[in-house]
Amino acid sequence: MRTIDYSLEELSKITAEFASTYKDYSIFCLEGEMGAGKTTFIHTLCKEWTVIDNVSSPTYSIINKYLCANGSYVYHLDLFRLKNTQELIDIGFEDLLEDKAKIVIEWPSLSYPLLIGERIVKLQFEKKTENNRKIIIFT
Ligand SMILES: Nc1ncnc2c1ncn2[C@@H]1O[C@H](COP(=O)(O)OP(=O)(O)OP(=O)(O)O)[C@@H](O)[C@H]1O
Ligand SMILES: [Mg+2]
Repeated sequence: MRTIDYSLEELSKITAEFASTYKDYSIFCLEGEMGAGKTTFIHTLCKEWTVIDNVSSPTYSIINKYLCANGSYVYHLDLFRLKNTQELIDIGFEDLLEDKAKIVIEWPSLSYPLLIGERIVKLQFEKKTENNRKIIIFT
């Protein structure tokens, strides 16, 4: 477990270090209240992963798929609006796990029953002040 405190100005330095430290992982679960900074973190992290497509919040789409410069993909999910794990199965979540792509999940709790046995990185975001956020990282 480790803790990182950061401001928006420090974010790209944080995500660069994060991408390198966790380069061998492909599933990232981002927990934390609304406005805690999950989407913002993913947006900046996706630059490290050389995402070419526009990164936006999948609040309504549930799942966004982004192309990277090397031809691989990043799947960005936001499960806030889902009601149960079956809905996640219905949108093909288990097929994503077979893919070699990176998967980042906001509001991930409904996915945990489908992630048993997978190597994941869990990030817990906390809003400390208007200008600072804290992340607790578990592997
Ligand atoms: N380290 C930071 N310091 C200050 N502000 C930040 C930081 N990270 C993110 N923010 C700001 O917090 C706001 C909300 O961030 P974001 O949309 O990333 O939250 P979220 O966790 O994805 O929320 P939701 O659960 O609604 O999807 C944005 O205005 C963003 O600029
Ligand atoms: Mg978000």
